[in-house]
Amino acid sequence: MKSCKVIFASRPENLPEASTFAVVEEELPTLQAGQVLVRVDYLSIDAWTSTMLGAGSLHGALPIGATLPAFGVGTVLQSQDGSLTQGDAVFGMFGSQSHLVGPAGMFRKLDTTDIPARSHLGVLGLTTGLTAWVGLNTIGGLKASDTVVVSGAAGATGSCACEIARLRGARVIGIAGGADKVAYLLNDLGIAGAIDYKSEDVGERIKALVPDGVNLFFDNVGGAILDAVLDNLAMEARVVICGAISQYPRLDQVTGPSRYLKVAERNATMRGFTVDYWGSAHAEAIAEISAWQKAGQFRVREEVLKGIEKFPEAMLKLYSGHIGKMMVAP
Ligand SMILES: NC(=O)c1ccc[n+]([C@@H]2O[C@H](COP(=O)([O-])OP(=O)(O)OC[C@H]3O[C@@H](n4cnc5c(N)ncnc54)[C@H](OP(=O)(O)O)[C@@H]3O)[C@@H](O)[C@H]2O)c1
Repeated sequence: MKSCKVIFASRPENLPEASTFAVVEEELPTLQAGQVLVRVDYLSIDAWTSTMLGAGSLHGALPIGATLPAFGVGTVLQSQDGSLTQGDAVFGMFGSQSHLVGPAGMFRKLDTTDIPARSHLGVLGLTTGLTAWVGLNTIGGLKASDTVVVSGAAGATGSCACEIARLRGARVIGIAGGADKVAYLLNDLGIAGAIDYKSEDVGERIKALVPDGVNLFFDNVGGAILDAVLDNLAMEARVVICGAISQYPRLDQVTGPSRYLKVAERNATMRGFTVDYWGSAHAEAIAEISAWQKAGQFRVREEVLKGIEKFPEAMLKLYSGHIGKMMVAP
């Protein structure tokens, strides 16, 4: 049996481009004792993957020729291990491919009774819903009385952050690029305010929407947007550095915040995190998000691109515009 996979073909100068990726076919190895054959149903499209491609890197540089890393959910087609049987839904770090053979231990069996498998990449995804939950709660100490600002708010992690903060009773303002994203934030997610950073002055709009200052800032973007929010912090504000996608195209030339002295002036904290480091918080995050999801209270949009050959296009859309959680169905 053959697997279709996406490999890293050439290192881009700035943003990833079509020539960064190549789709190849590979014969799968014969199944051995202790192994399973999995059909990949959905692959998660994540901004962190792009931090491994360019000049400089955040999570280690990917070697040319490597399969693009990606979390996925899939279905067991054949099993040579007692822990998994044909038809089981599983989650794991599959890589961007249509099928794979691996040791049973690399797959986590999913209970899909109430929550569909692909939600384990979205609202319950390690790099999406769990990241938002850990950043807001474990790092940011989210309170119902907070005014929370989220950047990259219409993307996957940002949408989840908006939802979690809203469902906890906080007042939420989202920052995103474009009128369609502002409409999604206000109408679909129902947050209190939205700022279009592509056509509005972010600092002025925050001043107008949050005159008493921002209590908690969940930052996915960095750069000028981080500075604009630092200029509008409430006393004892918490600034959570989840990511800085504005800097990912040139990680060898990162520009830090020029307004960081506001952290001192406002007696604020600025703290970063990686979601995998806070594994001790994941069970509580999963329990709370699952309850919201089962009750139909989570409204994060999902976009699924069909065909493994769409993986490169989906990666490029992280920079050119998409709404909510993006996945590829190989
Ligand atoms: N700390 C952790 O453990 C952890 C884990 C997972 C993800 N993250 C971080 O979370 C962030 C979001 O990741 P994601 O996978 O959920 O991606 P995403 O938000 O679904 O997609 C990226 C978004 O970034 C925005 N963007 C791209 N370039 C930008 C720029 N120059 N200025 C402003 N916005 C820009 C785009 O929205 P617009 O169209 O609105 O510009 C796009 O929707 C990333 O920074 C990622 O590194 C951190």
